[in-house]
Amino acid sequence: MEPTTAPTKPQFSPAAQAEIKRLLSHYPADKSKSALLPILHIAQAEFGGWVSPEVQDLVAETLSIKPIEVYEVSSFYTMYNLKPVGKHVLEICRTGPCMLRGSDELTANLERITGAKVGGTSPDGNFTLKEVECLAACGFAPIVQVREKYYEQLDTPEAVDAMLNELRGQIHRPILSWEENSSLPNSLKNN
Ligand code: FES
Repeated sequence: MEPTTAPTKPQFSPAAQAEIKRLLSHYPADKSKSALLPILHIAQAEFGGWVSPEVQDLVAETLSIKPIEVYEVSSFYTMYNLKPVGKHVLEICRTGPCMLRGSDELTANLERITGAKVGGTSPDGNFTLKEVECLAACGFAPIVQVREKYYEQLDTPEAVDAMLNELRGQIHRPILSWEENSSLPNSLKNN
């Protein structure tokens, strides 16, 4: 019988730990739970773009709160991914102004081009499609958000192609704010 090995418990990198410590210094000691949202963002960036139950448990442990307090927050906000995602998560706004400017057609085109269905990932692992509510950029509808960047006025095939081509040329891992001046290779810093 094959020996079984226990799954490794996730751990924050030293850089992430330092950033978490810096963040927590902004809150009174008895209000550290208030840092839950930014620490979930750090966790999501650290662990492949999604927060597994084990990673959420790590966040709970870091903040000395119950795991359920993390789960109820991570499952409420669409910006946290609760299952593995592709290299790029395309958050497609589906609220009124974007819908009037063609978000339904945009979604259908993105599904057709990438081979992913909304809520799923393309067969090549490059793109995950999500529908989200207003991204507060209605004047530039229809909008897709990919990490910190907005792709605007995606109502032409050329604009959609330009977005996808730009993303195809990028690495998966976003550069975390506290790493900008680190010793990361330039090939990572430039994306
Ligand atoms: S409705 Fe899409 S950004 Fe507001």
